[in-house]
Amino acid sequence: MCSIIGYYGKNSAAPIMVKGLKRMEYRGYDSVGVATEYDQKIEVRKGVGKVSEVNDSECLDKLPGRIGIGHTRWATHGKVTALNAHPHSSTSGKIAIVHNGIIENFNELKEELEKDGFTFVSETDSEVIANLLQQNYNQTSNVKKSIIKTVSKLKGHYAFVAMFENGILAAARYHEPMIIGIGKDDYFLSSDVLGFIEKTDDAIYIDNGNFVILDSSGMQICDFEGTPVKHQITKVSKEFADAYKGDYAHFTLKEISEQPETILNAGKKTESAIEQTADFIKHAKNVYMTGSGTSYNAALVAKYLMSKYAKVKIEPIISSELPTLHDSIEPNSILIAISQSGESADVLEAVNIAKKSNAKILAIANHKNSALVHESSLFIGMNCGPEVGVAATKSFTSQLAIIYKITEKLCEGCLDLDFKEVSNSISKILSNHSKIQSIAKELKNVSDIYVLGRGIHYPIASEAALKLKELTYIHAEGIPGGELKHGPLALMDSNVYVIIINPNDSTYTDTLTSAREIKARGAKIIGISDKNSDVYDHWIEIPSIKESMFPLIEIISIQLLSYYSAVEKDTDPDYPRNLAKSVTVK
Ligand code: AGP
Repeated sequence: MCSIIGYYGKNSAAPIMVKGLKRMEYRGYDSVGVATEYDQKIEVRKGVGKVSEVNDSECLDKLPGRIGIGHTRWATHGKVTALNAHPHSSTSGKIAIVHNGIIENFNELKEELEKDGFTFVSETDSEVIANLLQQNYNQTSNVKKSIIKTVSKLKGHYAFVAMFENGILAAARYHEPMIIGIGKDDYFLSSDVLGFIEKTDDAIYIDNGNFVILDSSGMQICDFEGTPVKHQITKVSKEFADAYKGDYAHFTLKEISEQPETILNAGKKTESAIEQTADFIKHAKNVYMTGSGTSYNAALVAKYLMSKYAKVKIEPIISSELPTLHDSIEPNSILIAISQSGESADVLEAVNIAKKSNAKILAIANHKNSALVHESSLFIGMNCGPEVGVAATKSFTSQLAIIYKITEKLCEGCLDLDFKEVSNSISKILSNHSKIQSIAKELKNVSDIYVLGRGIHYPIASEAALKLKELTYIHAEGIPGGELKHGPLALMDSNVYVIIINPNDSTYTDTLTSAREIKARGAKIIGISDKNSDVYDHWIEIPSIKESMFPLIEIISIQLLSYYSAVEKDTDPDYPRNLAKSVTVK
């Protein structure tokens, strides 16, 4: 989703910001822009496309000045055009801003500002921030006062950086991330540590409802009433700077291939949090587990696993649905929030609701400095390193590994976990590329793929369908095996491909029956199993493993299949259209 960068210091701002924006490309965007202040004048350059393309055409990194702001935009209000790209300037051009989030009352504010002579050139909600700041600055001639007045009028979720013509930089944060990087003789403002990690690993996470002003006297952080607040400098994890593709064609393939190793690291160094989580689950009145997309699918796996092996009931809830289901949560309940980024707005909102009801919040996250972890009383680290590909791959198996470890504690060792064996099995699947590649060639022109799984394999079927959709743009749907005859069977004909997740376990016979029913209607069957069958048109072999462990390995073949199908279709597996890595708006 949108990324912000700001620079205040002694070096040339523009090249630093362009580099920072490139490092944050994985978050997803459609247009890019940079503005700098030089000689008390602000110059803005922006355009539609990748950072390198716009930089080539607009020479973003050649802008002069030692103070600047930059942005990559993921369109919400208004089409993908250069005019709608950030930075946006106030009518006089004396203030420029970059903004993440949504200003809900922008229409009212715009009308008021227009009455006062301000004009607008874009279709965005963001432009009102520039003009509102200008209006308030005209009245107060004071940056601090103008920020306080401006934030008091804004409704919605936002983080913005404003650059004033007099060389002052200010940033405010309200339910959107904003981090200050503290360099040797400079400051960075960014929505993601990757924006400045090459320059410094000292950071201040601005608290919600606070703002910062950077000027020649240094840095001042205040709450929205203007009272100075204390701040803490955190060392951010340098490992997130190591996001390089190496010899791999895409980050997605690299990240899929890292799983034999990442599965072994999940939850490491947070073992006591795993133990405490199991203990909280045992004593809680209700246990809710929430997440979005892939992270929600992990919560679904937890439901099946904990129910079957630990006889514990948990309720998985899609984060964006939680506000419609619960406006409060019963006392003595816990909410386990799963999020790779720890920044998904829907997850944070769900956490907010649970916190208001005094529920205990436990986080399973990859980014330990994220907003989610800050909001939680316990944190279990996924430790899978940076995941750049928009499609979650290694983070999913890490989430599952943690869920398995919690379940193992709950059932006092009944799973007999052996992650070394899981890791070896994943390696075996990864060595089977050529078979999967040849099936991917066939899927190139298919318009519908269904993925069928029974019991615990159903959440894996949902996750598989999500991967296929994101990476290949082919319509895909996960079906719980037993539901076939209750509707989906009507869709089966010779144009359809069905992936059957069918390890040789207690679900095997029923699932094979479903496969035969589908085959009888002419659909093509891809079987994912450790046992071959004449019903499969294609068999993707997976190693035999303990029954409870199959979910951890069967998803790998479908990640590969989705990846290679994307390559066949010539879509960009790392940056699927319209999607962002961290969905930081509701
Ligand atoms: C998964 O492939 C998706 N890109 C998406 O569904 C993702 O899992 C979701 O947005 C949640 O992200 P999070 O784990 O960072 O909260």
